[in-house]
Amino acid sequence: MDIQHIGIVGCGLMGSGIAQCAAEAGYQVWVKEADEALLAKGLARIQGAWERAAVKGKLTGDQKAELGRHLNGTTTFAALAGCDLVVEAVPERMDLKLQTFAELDRVLGPGALLCTNTSSLSVAQISPALSPHRLARLAGLHFFNPVPVMPLVEVVRTLATDEDTLAALRAFVAKLGKTAVLAPDAPGFVVNRLLVPYLLDAMRCAEQKLATVEDIDTGMKLGCGHPMGPLHLSDFIGLDTMQSVAEVLFEAFGEPRFKAPSVLRQLVAAGRLGRKSGSGFYRWE
Ligand code: CAA
Repeated sequence: MDIQHIGIVGCGLMGSGIAQCAAEAGYQVWVKEADEALLAKGLARIQGAWERAAVKGKLTGDQKAELGRHLNGTTTFAALAGCDLVVEAVPERMDLKLQTFAELDRVLGPGALLCTNTSSLSVAQISPALSPHRLARLAGLHFFNPVPVMPLVEVVRTLATDEDTLAALRAFVAKLGKTAVLAPDAPGFVVNRLLVPYLLDAMRCAEQKLATVEDIDTGMKLGCGHPMGPLHLSDFIGLDTMQSVAEVLFEAFGEPRFKAPSVLRQLVAAGRLGRKSGSGFYRWE
């Protein structure tokens, strides 16, 4: 499978990171957003990253201009018609995912690969939005935040995903300079299945006043060599995201270690969603 043209649906934090990495790997990238304002914001985030790289001396002016030529914005699905691979990165709502894939089903060529960047929903549940011949080409491509920095992508196979698709996705991930692990279409895949109970446990420790928020984080950072402590990382991921991922995992497995602790629910109810809202376990202003 020859992948040259990449479509990204959704240019939020994850979508813009994926688009940036794909453009940097030399692909022609089409980014689709719901309206012009969201598109401009997403594209500005990518251009901002290239500006910062240029200021640090990691990109020349010519290289930055060349990257810009690999990035195209659109608000229509029709503009994605020529894409060989499309990655959906819209918010984590199945109704939105189904609408997106129904539109992609309408416009894409018959051989196109269709991927979702979902971190918590079932990939196979997207199937009803697609024509039967496309199901072998549907898979998950789960990137990690911040996408330009994190070197892992989970390649998620459904029962219908074929070997050619998996091989093409592994090659795509390698061309992005990242490492792929193959994960089953089970809640949390591999990484969140292990990471989320750890983060929720750290919240329970804070709730039970085992130690201060800062000391829990310092303990895990310096004691275990993690780049961020668990409460810092939860704020970084977003506490609303943490709560919704916990709900999906708890519903699937019914184990107490996946249950959202009350401190998490209270912070989310108070609008303290972590770094993006200015406060969570920490104050970010
Ligand atoms: N976007 C792009 N680049 C970023 C960035 C961002 N948000 N944050 C940092 N960087 C870049 C910096 O520009 C810098 O690049 P250079 O070396 O080229 O100058 C590099 O990353 C290191 O940054 P810093 O020195 O400022 O900070 P750091 O060394 O503390 O690294 C970090 C920052 C990479 C975020 C690091 O703290 C880290 O790895 N944290 C853990 C992140 C993590 O675990 N992510 C997974 C979240 S779980 C998830 O995503 C799954 C899910 O489904 C919920």
